[in-house]
Amino acid sequence: MKKVSIIYWSNGGNVEVLADAIAASAKENGAQVMIKHVTDATVDDVINADSVAFGSPSMDSNRIEQQEMEPYINQFKLLPNNGKKLILFGSYGWDEGQFIIDWSDRMKDYGFNVVDILAVKESPSEEQLRKARELGKELAR
Ligand SMILES: Cc1cc2nc3c(=O)[nH]c(=O)nc-3n(C[C@H](O)[C@H](O)[C@H](O)COP(=O)(O)O)c2cc1C
Repeated sequence: MKKVSIIYWSNGGNVEVLADAIAASAKENGAQVMIKHVTDATVDDVINADSVAFGSPSMDSNRIEQQEMEPYINQFKLLPNNGKKLILFGSYGWDEGQFIIDWSDRMKDYGFNVVDILAVKESPSEEQLRKARELGKELAR
């Protein structure tokens, strides 16, 4: 059974809806799933997982959320990360998803194997929720 960790930041709920869809699908596909708001997450939640998803809105000039998500993510800079399977997801208002491409480049630099990304404008459409469920399946694989 794959151990999947899903760690996200959300205030308005758009990123949380994606996180919940990914988690539900990973569970349906047989994974042991841990889903946490980043406030409650530790580095061990990633170290102990087989595959991971991180989620954030675009905030503060088209970057991941800066007060909690940024310091959490920054901790992985000095860890080996060993090509761990990673999916990034998030929501933006106007940057058309550029923040998640920048974030993906950064996580590749940190040694993760970024297998997919999903960025939606504000709240996800039905089709985007279907894509989120596909991501959950991929994490469980
Ligand atoms: C304080 C604040 C700053 C934001 N800054 C950006 C930004 O720099 N670029 C952008 O594309 N969207 C920005 N947004 C829009 C959010 O990314 C978008 O509303 C997102 O869906 C929020 O996710 P959440 O509902 O999970 O909190 C901002 C929203 C807020 C409230």
